[in-house]
Amino acid sequence: MDTTRSPRRRRVLAAAAALAAAAGAVTVASAAEAATTLGASAAEHGRYFGTAVAAYKLSDSTYSGILDREFNSVTPENEMKWDATEPTQGSFSYGSADQIVARAKANGAKVRGHALAWHSQQPGWAQNLSGTALRNAMVNHVTQVATHYKGQIDSWDVVNEAFADGGSGGRRDSNLQRTGNDWIEVAFRAARAADPAAKLCYNDYNTDGQNAKSNGVYAMVQDFKARGVPIDCVGFQSHFNANSPLPADYQANLQRFADLGVDVQITELDIEGSGTAQANSYASAVRACLAVTRCNGITVWGIRDSDSWRASGTPLLFDGSGNKKPAYTAALDALNGGSTPPSTPPPSTSTPPPPTGSGCTATIALNQWTGGFVATVKVTAGASRLAGWTAGLTLSSGSSVTNSWNAQSSGSSGAVSFSNVAYNGSVNAGASTEFGFQGTGTGPSSATCTAR
Ligand code: XIL
Repeated sequence: MDTTRSPRRRRVLAAAAALAAAAGAVTVASAAEAATTLGASAAEHGRYFGTAVAAYKLSDSTYSGILDREFNSVTPENEMKWDATEPTQGSFSYGSADQIVARAKANGAKVRGHALAWHSQQPGWAQNLSGTALRNAMVNHVTQVATHYKGQIDSWDVVNEAFADGGSGGRRDSNLQRTGNDWIEVAFRAARAADPAAKLCYNDYNTDGQNAKSNGVYAMVQDFKARGVPIDCVGFQSHFNANSPLPADYQANLQRFADLGVDVQITELDIEGSGTAQANSYASAVRACLAVTRCNGITVWGIRDSDSWRASGTPLLFDGSGNKKPAYTAALDALNGGSTPPSTPPPSTSTPPPPTGSGCTATIALNQWTGGFVATVKVTAGASRLAGWTAGLTLSSGSSVTNSWNAQSSGSSGAVSFSNVAYNGSVNAGASTEFGFQGTGTGPSSATCTAR
């Protein structure tokens, strides 16, 4: 336990800060007291930082030492899945999952339940069922497991991975899907009835940016909210590697789901790679969650690289010996509000104009969907170095900016301007920097640029 972050100490600091403010002092206490663990720092933002946990590793003291020190939420990696909890129909086995829940409770950590209904890791008997028999077995499973853990689960992945990859935006074929398209809402209703206090999530992968699959999930959530199907959150697994990197519109995608009236959670984060590139991606993922008010927390999918389900990609925050990697430091710094800019700007689809004159130009790459957009703006310096810049644009009536990154915005509708922040004001002659913003309505197609 980190005693420097105790509630009492926080109260004392808060009182001191209040006194200082009352006396007209301008000193800000926070800079001097950055949290030193992932969980403590996330908690200061009203969020959790969690990890997937395997029950059989709890006896490994390196593993459990890091677990207890760093994380304030846990997800059983396999122990709550259907094959683990109901290996024989109607006969439930909770031993390993209970062990993880008990340890979490002892440490004051939250538990993410994972997962009640899923096409994968089903027991053999369920794989062989279909139709009404499978539907009934699924509802009974959801009810029994959610009842067993009633009151102990912060968020349940009620349904996992029900949408198809590729361009269809539709459901994945599975034995559950073949019981009827309403199987998902039936599972959510059963979970709500069994444990009304748990947040109920839909969880999936390849939904981390805006694409056909995430649009399909988005439409389902919108429909559930409209019809009163109980859904509280959407989980974004966020398994990233070179073929599937952190998307440029990650934050915007989290935000558009949050705007539907659900919480969002990063549920299985792992990013293959090493060194600075991996560290920057982790920092970006953390910043995205912090920038979305309804992003409750982040869970990484394991502790050490060697614990990962894809260990060869070294995708986690601790090396095989339990040492902190650069990715750990970057994630913690991002949580603590470090302002290190992303070293790799998001890709732009537009070609910057050639540098002319002494000013600057701004070009916009727009990702527009019905009702919303993400604009990535490239600011390019002319023949002289910029010491600062402001991009101006006009939004159509009824459209507005909901958030921005890598720039300071002024105004949210009509004429809006964006100025550089501390780290991207200086742009060499002919060079470029990028910022972005998200909005509702229709995005702009052009912007002006003024050098400062
Ligand atoms: C993985 C576990 O990490 C492995 O130990 C297991 O063999 C297979 O499942 N999406 C999910 C997780 O929702 O449950 C998966 O976990 C990883 C992909």
